[in-house]
Amino acid sequence: MIILKRESDIAKIRESGRIVAWAMRLCSESIVPGKTTPKFLDELAEKLIREKGGRPSFLGYRGYPAATCISVNNVVIHGIPDETPLQEGDIIDLDFGVYKEGFHADSAWTFPVGRIAKNAERLLNITQESLWQGISKAKVGNKVGDISATVQKYVEANGYSIVRELVGHGIGRNLHEEPSVPNFGRAGSGPVLKEGTTICIEPMVNEGTYDVVTLEDGWTMVTKDGKLSAHFEHTVAVTREGPEVLTVE
Ligand code: MF3
Ligand code: CO
Repeated sequence: MIILKRESDIAKIRESGRIVAWAMRLCSESIVPGKTTPKFLDELAEKLIREKGGRPSFLGYRGYPAATCISVNNVVIHGIPDETPLQEGDIIDLDFGVYKEGFHADSAWTFPVGRIAKNAERLLNITQESLWQGISKAKVGNKVGDISATVQKYVEANGYSIVRELVGHGIGRNLHEEPSVPNFGRAGSGPVLKEGTTICIEPMVNEGTYDVVTLEDGWTMVTKDGKLSAHFEHTVAVTREGPEVLTVE
């Protein structure tokens, strides 16, 4: 069942989303190549979230051990923050959510560490643009498959592949609600988007094969071929006026 949100609910998700976006920016601005560790960024994000009266959505979710997921280079998603300093040329996916006043917001962004290679730069640009293309389809009367097909087409037309293993999701009082929002599929398929639907659109895009492997920690997912992967995510409300991105400052 898709739980539709009234405007007062959306306002709370917007407030959680504002905290996500603000903490995301401060984390990204604090990255020093060769020095900053994912663990440091995780602790910074948690401190900032709590400072604003929120709590990290991921901490303890199905036993997840940190406030953030931090996925570097060939790590696709769900990287557990560790003490390995980020190096110039890395790409780093910062992914976290905030829970406040009963509602979650969730966002992810892949940042360059210092100067990065041309191929990495292009992967980030195409993946970010695929998210915006997907968001543009989050309109009343469209179907979830319209988002899915749009993201997939754009990514594949640019020579990359879309991860199948994980999908976007509804969001609200729970971090994960219906509907599932795959980044692949057929236009015109899936549930109808109604006014008050709130979803996370989160394409995970690989340079090479879309196959992923989960490491022994039970969380970290890496590309099977060791090539790069990027991930961008926003929380979006379907409103009468069109898509509203809720994870912005
Ligand atoms: N952004 C991802 C998602 O929405 C990460 C959450 S997984 C967690 O599914 F377990 F770490 F919370
Ligand atoms: Co998500």
